[in-house]
Amino acid sequence: DVLDGRGGTVAPAFTELHAHLREPGQTEKEDLHSGLAAAAAGGYGTVVCMPNTRPVLDDPALIRSLIEKAGRLGYARLKPAAAITRGQKGEALAELQYLKDAGAVMFTDDGLTNENARVLRLALETAHALGMVISVHAEDATLRADGVMNEGPVSEELGLPGNPAAAEAARVARDIEIVAGLTAQGRPARLHVQHLSTARALDLVRDAKKRGLPVTCEVCPHHLDLTDEKLRTFDAMYKVAPPLRTQADAEYLLGGLLDGSVDCLATDHAPHTRAEKERDLLEAPSGIAYIELAFPLMWTRFGHRLGLERLLDLMTAAPARVMGWTEPSLDAGAPADLVVLDLDTEREVNPAEFKSKAKFTPWQGQTLRGWPTLTVVDGQVAYQREG
Ligand code: NCD
Ligand code: ZN
Ligand code: ZN
Repeated sequence: DVLDGRGGTVAPAFTELHAHLREPGQTEKEDLHSGLAAAAAGGYGTVVCMPNTRPVLDDPALIRSLIEKAGRLGYARLKPAAAITRGQKGEALAELQYLKDAGAVMFTDDGLTNENARVLRLALETAHALGMVISVHAEDATLRADGVMNEGPVSEELGLPGNPAAAEAARVARDIEIVAGLTAQGRPARLHVQHLSTARALDLVRDAKKRGLPVTCEVCPHHLDLTDEKLRTFDAMYKVAPPLRTQADAEYLLGGLLDGSVDCLATDHAPHTRAEKERDLLEAPSGIAYIELAFPLMWTRFGHRLGLERLLDLMTAAPARVMGWTEPSLDAGAPADLVVLDLDTEREVNPAEFKSKAKFTPWQGQTLRGWPTLTVVDGQVAYQREG
């Protein structure tokens, strides 16, 4: 539901299924305080944080302590994802039940290893028994190899090692077949493909849905708005996994948001220090961080194609549906998670104002509309824009 009120448009606060908050262990990049404040400033009421921290989120006590700490901060609500394997090192974790009991809402291999098929199948079986989702970073590591950008005419022209679309499609196809096999045996384990970036992989997900398989996917705004042409700058700011693809891929993904084959949006907020991102393209870490810009970026660039209702759905109810959560509502009397959006006022992107520790962005200086002015989480103000 969208309520048009004086001074802004009210919507349920957004839900982010994919953010790297770097706590514990890499708090020079981000921490719970900066990351959840950034999320609230972006209009998010709930954030699922990824487990590729130091140490890895594979331990119930660690999950509990993160949730407790986040609760004291009063910004966006934290719902941690746990790793599928111990230390993300390829050995299947037997204790998924304890991680769920501690508050983990998702299991994922995002950010480190390429799970072998057997480990993924075990995790899917366990997650099915627990009624949970397994999310995957779908790239075949051997095909991705040392690619630093999309493999294609631009990578060839620049002489940079490429990461082919087939790395994603091959992994998605493999994972769908594992789900198909389990589903045929009466164990329909739920698979969620994170940061899906290619037309071919989307075709595979669409086909899986037609077969009635419990497969969902998310797409990131950076894969819609940026393409491999950006790598002509040789700036590692544009280095991300999976890589920025072609304009044709970006168009195709937008089509998927329109026809429903893409389930939801997620940013894959992946902050690194400025020094790390200023390194040579071949050495710099992958990741783009822009949780504070997600709605303004989507509304300004794609609002006319998606419409407000669909865009809000993709950032509120749709991620909740992927997770099997009850959808957000604006029921009278309930403590609200809501955001007030200024859909019209144009503002220049100024990364110095970011709450995130990553105070740089590909969209610096660009003019966007749709800025959150107020975010309420559990009935409390979590963000209010100054000025
Ligand atoms: C992520 C990170 O920095 O943790 N980087 C990225 O480029 N997306 C890892 C990931 O999402 O796979
Ligand atoms: Zn990933
Ligand atoms: Zn990620």
